[in-house]
Amino acid sequence: MERTYIADALKCEGKEIQVRGFVDSIRNSKAMAFIVLKDITGRLQITVEKEKHPELCPLLDQITADSVIAVTGTLIANDYVKLNGFEMLPSEGESLKIESLADALPIVRKEIPATKKRPGVERSGVDQRIDYRWIDLRTDENQLMFKAQTKLVAALREFLLERNFLEIHSPKLIGTASESGSDVFEVKYFDRNAYLAQSPQFYKQMAMASGFERIFECGPVFRAEKSYTSRHTTEFTGFDLEFSYIDSFRDVMKMEEELLTHALKAVKEAYGDEIKEAFGKEVIVPTLPFPVITLKKLYEELEAKYGYTLPESEKGDLTTEAEQLSYRWVMETYGHEFLFVTDFDAEKRAFYHMRDENGVPQGYDLIWRGVEITTGAQREHRYDVLKAQAAEKGLDEDVKFYLDFFRYGCPPHGGFGLGVDRITMLLCGLGIKDSMFIFRGPNRLNP
Ligand code: 4AD
Ligand code: MG
Repeated sequence: MERTYIADALKCEGKEIQVRGFVDSIRNSKAMAFIVLKDITGRLQITVEKEKHPELCPLLDQITADSVIAVTGTLIANDYVKLNGFEMLPSEGESLKIESLADALPIVRKEIPATKKRPGVERSGVDQRIDYRWIDLRTDENQLMFKAQTKLVAALREFLLERNFLEIHSPKLIGTASESGSDVFEVKYFDRNAYLAQSPQFYKQMAMASGFERIFECGPVFRAEKSYTSRHTTEFTGFDLEFSYIDSFRDVMKMEEELLTHALKAVKEAYGDEIKEAFGKEVIVPTLPFPVITLKKLYEELEAKYGYTLPESEKGDLTTEAEQLSYRWVMETYGHEFLFVTDFDAEKRAFYHMRDENGVPQGYDLIWRGVEITTGAQREHRYDVLKAQAAEKGLDEDVKFYLDFFRYGCPPHGGFGLGVDRITMLLCGLGIKDSMFIFRGPNRLNP
């Protein structure tokens, strides 16, 4: 018999069907056994009256929590069943099959509150849970998070495909080390060294020189940074795009705000209520346009309103503290969760950002809920200017192959890189370790 998802099973009253999934809980008493079965779509109670099913009794005695079973039976309505008001009664004969028995679980996924009879059990710490991430990911909250992320990325893709973007897949193994100050991982490559791409930057710009006009890529990004924060990881998923024939970096900002608004709307429609219930976070569809402020003005505002003083060494860049405070500021000033920050110092920005006549980089950071989710810019497409800007950062030798992209004709263009894991994390109000499928950090290469 074909397997039915639990969500669909609940619409099959009176019919004989088969469900398969994990045992969420089992209560096995003398006369009755109650199994709550969970699959990716929901939960269902299976009620076994033992007298009627003597052949199932040995199996019921073996089943542990998180074991995987298959059950064939009939769904009936029963007002006494708290879970959905339905239960499944197994068919006669060998209607229950154990697919896989689970050992006692090595982690506690959810706090178990104390009762009069027994003390409570604390939830395992995030590092311990990541050791057994596959078990941790079985919770409703974690599965919801990845359903929402899937929706988000699908909506990003959908928006761009409708606007003539092509999807590219650029190499992650590259021959030279540099793009900006970020550290790159060196890997053995036969009898020489290669490096893991710290972003698809160079190749998305190559696509502009190839006349692709509009491209995006969703793929892995590697950063050899020893950061131990709640928003840094050494490998993450970047959603990058680049498009040609723009007149200003403001065209890039406009594309991004419309794109994100579309995607958040899709997530809210599909999962807004569930996210609110599971994580206590409202999914807010932002209004257009997003607020914009220059870096200098932002610091003036943060100082005037909250007494924030900027350390001299951090001038021209956005500090983590200011980033966080900017959320309070943008909420109080505009009632908006997003903030574009422009006019960084050229010294603090990548060499490929176009600069205006005063040397100001034509780019931005986008901050959502106090965390940077994007850096974007109009790119310098004029070979001589670009070469000089690379030389200024001491990179002209390293990026020779990249500079060549601009020697044989290249349209004006711009784009941005969006951190998918950062969006997921902020959507659910979690840290990065809790919101990645599997976190990678300086001390974490397993599982
Ligand atoms: O700001 P970043 O470093 O910009 C670039 O990679 C440029 N090539 C993009 C461009 O088109 N100008 O990275 C882009 C985004 C960040 O805004 C952030 O959301 C995410 O990637 N990100 C990280 N996420 C998790 N852990 C890290 N260590 C991250 N570093 C950047
Ligand atoms: Mg950045």
